[in-house]
Amino acid sequence: MAAEDYVEYASGLNTRKSYRLYKRAEKLMPGGASSHGQCYPVFTPYPLGFERGKGSKIWDLDGNEYLDFVLAMGPLIHGHAHPRLVEAVRDQLAKGTMFAVLHDKEVDLAEKVCRMTSMDMVRFSNGGSEATQTAVRLARGYTGKNKIIKFEGAYHGGHDYVLFGGGGPTTGPPSAMYKIPSSWGIPEETAKNTLVVRWNDADSLEKVVKRNADDLAGIISEPVLMNIGTVPPEEGFLQLMRSLCDEHDMLFILDEIITGFRLARGGAQEYFGIKADITTYAKALGGGFPISAIAGRRKIMEDLVPGKVFHAGTYNANPLCVVAALASLTELERPGTYQRMKKVGDMLQAGLEEAIERTKTTAIVQGIGPGGCQLYFTKLDRIRNYPDYMTCDSQKYLAMHRKLLKKGVYFHPQQYEHLFVSTQHTEEDVKQCVSKVQESLRELT
Ligand SMILES: Cc1ncc(COP(=O)(O)O)c(C=O)c1O
Repeated sequence: MAAEDYVEYASGLNTRKSYRLYKRAEKLMPGGASSHGQCYPVFTPYPLGFERGKGSKIWDLDGNEYLDFVLAMGPLIHGHAHPRLVEAVRDQLAKGTMFAVLHDKEVDLAEKVCRMTSMDMVRFSNGGSEATQTAVRLARGYTGKNKIIKFEGAYHGGHDYVLFGGGGPTTGPPSAMYKIPSSWGIPEETAKNTLVVRWNDADSLEKVVKRNADDLAGIISEPVLMNIGTVPPEEGFLQLMRSLCDEHDMLFILDEIITGFRLARGGAQEYFGIKADITTYAKALGGGFPISAIAGRRKIMEDLVPGKVFHAGTYNANPLCVVAALASLTELERPGTYQRMKKVGDMLQAGLEEAIERTKTTAIVQGIGPGGCQLYFTKLDRIRNYPDYMTCDSQKYLAMHRKLLKKGVYFHPQQYEHLFVSTQHTEEDVKQCVSKVQESLRELT
């Protein structure tokens, strides 16, 4: 290959096969990928192509090995190719891949999900966006009201109801936060019905609720903002959402697509001691297979039936994903699992803080045990909300990501993502990661 035909991804790292793959992909798929979250320029100068993964490690097409702290943006709570998930799916493959009607494992999964989360009823779908779309429609159908509140910097997927106010792959300048949707093609009527409020700002939340209560169907919120790194709720903020919903006949929708089954068996609701009316789950539920869930109180969920609120999907609760989810949850229920993940997650956070200290880097780490953490290049002592996040140095983060690749550690290139550990990550993996981060920070100062 001629030298000019190859763009280096990270200094000194051979990614020629990834580059060639991307050049083929960009001719056929807009942005060279199948998702805005996976394409150029999220991955600059191009996304790396991966060939295989095992436990906490992944290998790219050029044979480079990395310790993986991205875990496919959350789903791989048991790491790559966990033997018991693989076995469950292999067994099911031989029995039939789809029936598109009730099957026994689906009911087993419904029972397990409801038991672990203390929900009354559940419906399955395929991805997080489908789940949050149905949750919002259900809140509107149940209350007979139109508007919803979402928070700046929260990401709830790729549908019109929630594509406002940044978060995840829609993260952009704060000036675009309130009125301008994060996508072309969203009708003005939809924009009028989604009100964006600042995270951790109790006064604004109360004001917006009071001004719009007559037509507010509910509040949709992540329990911890996981799409601008890791930004926890301040004392009382989730409780305020709960009480405002009770006071004004609105529904509290908690989007636990990331936190569900990760922060605790019962997700963020167990962790923070709070109860939502409708909850959405995905990522850790399927352990890497595309399955999501909408769950909640019986009285509300009973409106998700023909003639009332519509919800359907040919692939919903397909057996392959259902058996993977059963295996994923069974692994999570093993005694000591969450304690171990918390220990390794806390170790990662503490290690990164020490690396920052030792290299005198202007940065902080925010985290939430098994839920993940993020390193922010910032002078602030805390990231409380989206405008705070937007002041962080994302170019420096990208530079660190590239240095780490060369050293065999895989972080996402974007600071709005976060660092995850799986049940397969060991203390040794974390020690190695921290020492490579320290080297990278030293090189960057
Ligand atoms: C909190 C949250 N909700 C919803 C979604 C959308 O899920 P999906 O990408 O599966 O549609 C995401 C995706 O990252 C998410 O983080």
